[in-house]
Amino acid sequence: LSLSPAKLTALVAEARDRVFAKRIFQPRVAIVLGSGLGDLATRLTHPTALPYSEIPGFPRTHAVGHAGQLILGFLAGVPVVLMQGRAHRYEGFSNLHVRFPIRCLHALGATTLIVTNAAGGLNTRFQKGDLMAIDSHIDFLWNRQQWGKPHVRPTPPLRGKCPYDFGLIHHANSIARRKDITLHQGTYLATLGPTYETRGEYRMFRQLGADAVGMSTVPEVLTARELSMQVLGFSVITNVASTDIPQSTSHSEVVDLGNEAGPRLMDILEDLLQDMAGQ
Ligand code: 6GU
Repeated sequence: LSLSPAKLTALVAEARDRVFAKRIFQPRVAIVLGSGLGDLATRLTHPTALPYSEIPGFPRTHAVGHAGQLILGFLAGVPVVLMQGRAHRYEGFSNLHVRFPIRCLHALGATTLIVTNAAGGLNTRFQKGDLMAIDSHIDFLWNRQQWGKPHVRPTPPLRGKCPYDFGLIHHANSIARRKDITLHQGTYLATLGPTYETRGEYRMFRQLGADAVGMSTVPEVLTARELSMQVLGFSVITNVASTDIPQSTSHSEVVDLGNEAGPRLMDILEDLLQDMAGQ
């Protein structure tokens, strides 16, 4: 899929209008739910669900543990839109497909993006089921392609700003402390997948400075930053990569751990949004 800037703008507007046709609703915050985290949608009040298949341009995701629908509603009194399921590059979707929904969430009115994912722990201090606030990333999807015209010169990195909002990370950390929830902070490394890593690769990624490894998130974050949205990201640590003890990862295990850790993550998000509602 390749689109001219004008066609892209038109397709985004079409998708936005399709959502508005179902419900006139201006979300303030958009939340992308990763593997096993889809249940978090049950915490919304006044929900309206819209399958991706009914929204022009949206990818039809197939990954197990991803429902593939938008849900509009309120979380702690704040109007939000949830993406229950995302497209991955490993499913064969183009960069454009993976990023398109974020454009649409922005067009609906969202000014903050909260991304979540399941990721393999590389930092030896991490335990299975722990949460990590993403404060930086390493982009092994090489997502340098941007929207519109080809770039004739290098672009300023991410509008000269760290893509992850430090005010929001700080806020999430203080909520986690208050609630006695372990929340680490670190660097997320994105691979193309779909294979999990060999022990050699885990060791390499750890030496490169990554704390967690997954197959998503970076394209969405870059898109949101291109649109000047505020971004906050969380990983659920689904396994601890050890160089000593061979460990294998399975997708069902990843989904199960997401389900286990999800409520803790949602507890943090609910308080965060509650504070936003008061601002
Ligand atoms: Cl261990 N690796 C990658 N690349 N993605 C993951 C993961 C591991 N666990 C969950 N997602």
